Amino acid sequence: MTDILSNIEQIYSEMGHNHYGEGVSQIEHAVQCARLAVEDGERADMVVAALLHDIGHLFAGVNPGYGDFCHDQAGAEYLSQYFPPGVTEPVRLHVSAKRYLCTTEAGYIDSLSEASRYSLEHQGGFMTEDEITAFLAEPFYEQAIRLRRWDDEAKDEQLASTPFSSFSQKIVEVCNA
Ligand SMILES: [Fe+2]
Repeated sequence: MTDILSNIEQIYSEMGHNHYGEGVSQIEHAVQCARLAVEDGERADMVVAALLHDIGHLFAGVNPGYGDFCHDQAGAEYLSQYFPPGVTEPVRLHVSAKRYLCTTEAGYIDSLSEASRYSLEHQGGFMTEDEITAFLAEPFYEQAIRLRRWDDEAKDEQLASTPFSSFSQKIVEVCNA
């Protein structure tokens, strides 16, 4: 368990300074997302999902083979070694949640940052009817939508940084090992 925690902390301390693309670093984006989950009264699994949802982006920096546009799958696959579906499924589905909201919620796409609108095209664009049906059949689709909304908000350049380590206890709490 300590190994898992130190692996994750090492990934974020080595790669977390990478730019998220919208005025904040990856690690700032991660902790802001987790803070929003805490403020919404979420359980530890959702706080950890929020914290680690973009871990696949950090692998993309380590291993270009993963590719940035598959960061949801790559992240969930890595995390599934250590965490239950309550953590890994919202991570795996958070890009689908964006596609779903862009397709079904009026005005949502206009609220996205330029970078996020740009990446939508590379993430599959709008959902078809069949894709919507499949997404809504996912047991964790609601959690993925909640995660996606924090993801959209967690880009505050002015917010004083919370240390990544302040979430260590929650990582240990939900870890399988
Ligand atoms: Fe994100």
